[in-house]
Amino acid sequence: MKTALITGITGQDGAYLAEYLLKNGYEVIGFMRRLSTINVERLDYLGITDEIILTDGDITDLSSMVRIMDKYKPAEVYNLAAQSFVGTSWQQPILTSNVTAIGALNVLEAIRLVDPSIKFYQASTSEMFGKIKETIQCETTPFHPRSPYGVSKLYAHWMTVNYRESFNMFACAGILFNHESPIRGLEFVTRKVTHSAARIKLGLQDKLHLGNIDAKRDWGHAKDYVRAMHLMLQHDNPDDFVIATGKTTSVRDMCKIAFDYLGLDYKNYVVIDKSLFRPAEVEILIGNPVKAEKHLGWKAEVGLEEMIKEMVDADMKRVNLNRR
Ligand code: NAP
Ligand code: GDD
Repeated sequence: MKTALITGITGQDGAYLAEYLLKNGYEVIGFMRRLSTINVERLDYLGITDEIILTDGDITDLSSMVRIMDKYKPAEVYNLAAQSFVGTSWQQPILTSNVTAIGALNVLEAIRLVDPSIKFYQASTSEMFGKIKETIQCETTPFHPRSPYGVSKLYAHWMTVNYRESFNMFACAGILFNHESPIRGLEFVTRKVTHSAARIKLGLQDKLHLGNIDAKRDWGHAKDYVRAMHLMLQHDNPDDFVIATGKTTSVRDMCKIAFDYLGLDYKNYVVIDKSLFRPAEVEILIGNPVKAEKHLGWKAEVGLEEMIKEMVDADMKRVNLNRR
């Protein structure tokens, strides 16, 4: 039985990746920070909490990482922990850098100190392309991050490449475009829309305040994207891969899908709120996943419309149950 360590186990991707690895016969160690309240809702939602060994640690604390790595001797480490909300990264740039940039370096250092043969996955992001230099972004597209989050991720990305080149480590970076699901955080725009649409339908909310609805994203389903993370670590050589659907949609059109599905016209509910615009915006992202298709045999299976409907259904159920 292979052992995998996942940082960010309580997040969206951590939960889906854990579910996927458990199905594939792995022992899963979940690295989570101690909080004053237990924070395993997503693992509960997938019904896998009891199948995971949960262990306390903080990604900014190298000693906890070394101790856990030494105790469990994982074959694979997936570094998903991050302050991952772009908006917050302007309010908390130093925390974002400590967690998202230096945190990744801590994981690389722990591997180097404990056992450099441990395979490493870094959660890189399309946010690194930022002010895009090519219409469709691939592994060779130059980066131009537009937020403290994007800059932090770029540091972690290059550290991953550097540890691979310097120490011959099996370190891979998945440059993942936006991916969502019914367990996406409420602050991200897709879930904010599906949750609000459900509340509006049920008479619990009147309006939905949004920022730049002309921004466009290449949205896929998190379940598809965690498969790609695993495939990267099973590949013959460590490498970096873009994971995307190859299609882009505006926030406005994504809203329309969600509201139409509930028989509502989004124009009657959406209010443009200037305070939700970002200091520097990533206007459009669209990824070319050909390398992953060719070398990993990976392909996105779930389209945007199917995913948004799944998210709306899940939110209707949850809001109906909790009436909030
Ligand atoms: P998420 O839901 O925000 O999860 C982030 C995870 O990191 C949570 O488990 C969080 O724990 C944990 N974390 C934060 N600070 C930590 C710390 N100091 N020590 C230990 N753990 C800490 O993010 P996600 O959507 O699953 O994304 C997973 C990773 O992929 C992130 O690195 C993200 O930046 C990256 N990524 C995401 C996307 C996307 O579209 N989803 C695209 C590209 C890259 P708490 O639960 O305690 O907060
Ligand atoms: N969150 C949010 N809330 N975004 C809004 C809103 C709003 O009210 N109104 C418009 N938007 C726009 C944002 O300005 C952005 O252009 C787009 O919707 C998507 O925003 P998010 O869903 O917050 O995602 P993101 O693209 O900034 O970042 C996500 O994807 C990255 C990969 O490209 C996060 O998951 C990052 O962690 C990830 O790296």
